[in-house]
Amino acid sequence: MNHEIIVTQSDTLDMLDTLLERRDDKWWDAFYSDRNKSIPFFKDIPDEELVDYCQKHLFSTGKSLDIGCGNGRNSRYLAAQGFCAAGIDISEESIGWANELSAKCGNPPKFHCVSLFEYAAEPQSFDLVLDSGCFHHIKPHRREQYLTRVQNYLKDGGYFLMTCFNLDGGANVSDYDVYRDRSMHGGLGFSEYKIKKILENYFRIIEFRKMKESSDPAVFGKDFMWVILMKKK
Ligand SMILES: C[S@@+](CC[C@H](N)C(=O)[O-])C[C@H]1O[C@@H](n2cnc3c(N)ncnc32)[C@H](O)[C@@H]1O
Repeated sequence: MNHEIIVTQSDTLDMLDTLLERRDDKWWDAFYSDRNKSIPFFKDIPDEELVDYCQKHLFSTGKSLDIGCGNGRNSRYLAAQGFCAAGIDISEESIGWANELSAKCGNPPKFHCVSLFEYAAEPQSFDLVLDSGCFHHIKPHRREQYLTRVQNYLKDGGYFLMTCFNLDGGANVSDYDVYRDRSMHGGLGFSEYKIKKILENYFRIIEFRKMKESSDPAVFGKDFMWVILMKKK
């Protein structure tokens, strides 16, 4: 057998990718192809915690990066607050939608169709990195790469803001189950212990709470998500 040879750690990660069901750019393109679906984050409104932190002037404006930006709803909000906002996503459909929705903005975000794993940014480029709902789709064996990249992109003193499924939102399975079942189960749910254990290896947690359920039509708020505000260690 002169193929499927594992030499490096990177080969092992690639092999693990092949064990799991594909949820790649094409899958996400199909997901975004019908914009009229009743998906809560298809509405062009920002996350409640983002609005809250901006209203409290926690972030001074600067450069922001929105990982897995979808239709760009949070990036547009940050740009409207004065950020020089960038958003990346693996789905061309989502980036096309994000650009269409931003066409009339005075300070439009810049959107790029690229995976975080291939995104080439200078070290220490961003004052704020945002991940709203992407991390729970990242395969466990790719987390270290993912979080190391975020650490590297952030300026010293920069903020990393994440929202991810809690156990009411995502699958209550262990990381080992992902490989036993060969599936991410549509997005992993994290206990408080588990997500803190993962993130505290890389970041200092400043605030940890559930997202506030919101009936305000101008903000996105779902209490099946955690809100985690972090700084570089
Ligand atoms: C649940 S959606 C959230 C979209 C957006 N953040 C929002 O809240 O409206 C997750 C997004 O992450 C994107 N994504 C998944 N893996 C990614 C990766 N490796 N790099 C960049 N984006 C990714 C998907 O295409 C999808 O748009």
